[in-house]
Amino acid sequence: MKVYILTLFPEVFGPILQSSILKRAAEAGLLKVKTVNIRDFAVDDHGTVDDYPYGGGPGMVLKPEPIYDALRWVEQDAGTRPYAALMTPQGRKFTTGVARELAERDLVALVAGHYEGFDERVRSFVDDEISIGDFVLTGGEIAAMAVLDATARFLPGVLGDESSAESDSFSDGLLEGPQYTRPPVFMGMEVPLVLRQGDRAAIVRWRRKESLRRTLRRRKDLLREAVLTYEDRRLLAEVLREEGIDGKDLW
Ligand code: ADE
Repeated sequence: MKVYILTLFPEVFGPILQSSILKRAAEAGLLKVKTVNIRDFAVDDHGTVDDYPYGGGPGMVLKPEPIYDALRWVEQDAGTRPYAALMTPQGRKFTTGVARELAERDLVALVAGHYEGFDERVRSFVDDEISIGDFVLTGGEIAAMAVLDATARFLPGVLGDESSAESDSFSDGLLEGPQYTRPPVFMGMEVPLVLRQGDRAAIVRWRRKESLRRTLRRRKDLLREAVLTYEDRRLLAEVLREEGIDGKDLW
């Protein structure tokens, strides 16, 4: 997969791209990331990329021409038109599902804005608008990093152990249950016995049950949406009994 990031601050992506899993993904040829400085497509020799809002108001607005020209440049550089997504709090909410969807694409351009926002006409030449949550960042760079990072995890081979993206939180609509490593007892807190006894079937069952318990406690909204098997429903019934919750309150 090839990802172009259009930004006014390309330097902030270096450390993320040169660390850990994203670095390994790049070295393995699974992910290629190129930053494109929007200022290189400024409308004048002073590097102007923003201007005052028509009608007045605070802050500056990103002009449409530099972003349009930067996207056309990406198209030429890549040899084909990218799937272009604007980073904006007004976009569709970024989820595991959106990350999976983006990971299916060969060529994506993430556009990070700044200032008070984009000229509205920018929206007419992108394919998507993505928000990483209901809060406002000072710029789209952190959003683009989050989108890139979460998407890269779904590229085949990136995580090494391919199954781990599939068992993580949200992959099946539930939160992941508790995880432990050594020591077996820390400050009086014990690792559950079932995890130390090596009965694979019992471990799988325990993990599923604790995943259901955690989702019930923390994110009932996810539990209501999740596709549960017959066995899941049986485990959930056990959890509800243990937690003293009437199943009717859940739905
Ligand atoms: N830019 C500013 N805030 C943002 C958000 N919440 N998501 C995506 N892009 C943004």
